[in-house]
Amino acid sequence: MYIEKIVLKNYRNIDNTYLNLNSNLNFFIGNNGQGKTNLLEAVYLMATTESHRTNKDSELIQWNKDRALVQLKIIKTNFDLKISYRIENRNKLIKINNNPLEKMSDLIGNLNVILFSPEDLKIIKGGPSNRRKFLDLEISQVNSYYYHLMKEYEHILKQKNKLLKKMYYKEKKDLDLLEVWNDKLADKGASIIFKRLKVLKKLKILARLAQRKLTSGNENLNIEYDCNLKIEEKHKKEEIKNIFLRKLKEKQKEELERGYTLSGPHRDDLKLKINGMNVRKFGSQGQQRTVALGLKLAELELMKSESGEYPVLLLDDVFSELDKKRRNTLLSIIDDKIQTLITTTDTEDITKLLKKKNSSNSCLFKVKDGIITKACC
Ligand SMILES: Nc1ncnc2c1ncn2[C@@H]1O[C@H](COP(=O)(O)OP(=O)(O)OP(=O)(O)O)[C@@H](O)[C@H]1O
Ligand SMILES: [Mg+2]
Repeated sequence: MYIEKIVLKNYRNIDNTYLNLNSNLNFFIGNNGQGKTNLLEAVYLMATTESHRTNKDSELIQWNKDRALVQLKIIKTNFDLKISYRIENRNKLIKINNNPLEKMSDLIGNLNVILFSPEDLKIIKGGPSNRRKFLDLEISQVNSYYYHLMKEYEHILKQKNKLLKKMYYKEKKDLDLLEVWNDKLADKGASIIFKRLKVLKKLKILARLAQRKLTSGNENLNIEYDCNLKIEEKHKKEEIKNIFLRKLKEKQKEELERGYTLSGPHRDDLKLKINGMNVRKFGSQGQQRTVALGLKLAELELMKSESGEYPVLLLDDVFSELDKKRRNTLLSIIDDKIQTLITTTDTEDITKLLKKKNSSNSCLFKVKDGIITKACC
């Protein structure tokens, strides 16, 4: 799939923009603070319903304006799609081919994107929630049922934690009600763990391949699902539910004392190792960056195998940071088959690169003060 056209109105510092994109490489060049990330954010929003930088939609509207609009025309293998996303005051309206969506989450799966930015180093260096989010977002984009499942699980967890807090102050505890919430939690939680393990089984093979490619075969990446319930790939969904229920029972006293749920997929993690070494603890900055890139490349291939089409790749500020070898590996993967939007402040490297590449495969845009203009194609 690729984005053929983008229309932006009053989106952050971009007032009125109409862009025709190249189906392969698109470079957005500009100094700091000109609007490059804003543009990628708008595209990301159309795929996930959320910005990667804020959860307040009102921040996306240009200051002193009362509404913002993003429209995309997307070309897929068998059909075209028009998506429009309007944010007005506290409301948002999403339309697909002029039909308003009842649920925002129905947007997911229409456009698939992978965003890679320096922030992604958090997947490697940050806490477990960063790694869970990486995996969950990947699964949600190709499986909208999983997105709903996550939302349901979060809701149940919140309700159960509320109940635990309420019970904390009560002499007589309503354990039957707690059991009802535990059953619901274990049911949804088991489906989440089951799906994560299934997807991870494929993702780890692809990530291992990507890591070997990026390091000329020197580094073997291994990803393990670090499950607080000690679930393994061999377990069936029903077995996972029973193990989860047993654990909840076992921890009930402690949960009542602490006022929150102590086990479940919301506390799981991914363990990343290269040649047996924990990358988060001992990896060099370069190794950590390479693993982050490897994971994104694995995600790309996984999305293709799950949805049948390559997603759109958004590279924010990372291209010029890669060394020559990794940059060439990345370009060989993108080849002619993946639409990519690349932002950079560095014109020199890009000009050299464009000279080498077939010019019909790439377009160059300049970004200045929120105005985006096509420089050459
Ligand atoms: N709601 C808004 N209305 C108007 N301008 C905004 C809004 N939100 C952010 N901006 C401005 O948008 C500008 C551009 O931000 P953006 O993050 O896109 O820059 P950038 O080109 O990616 O820069 P860098 O190279 O430093 O990453 C910032 O200077 C910021 O002040
Ligand atoms: Mg930026």
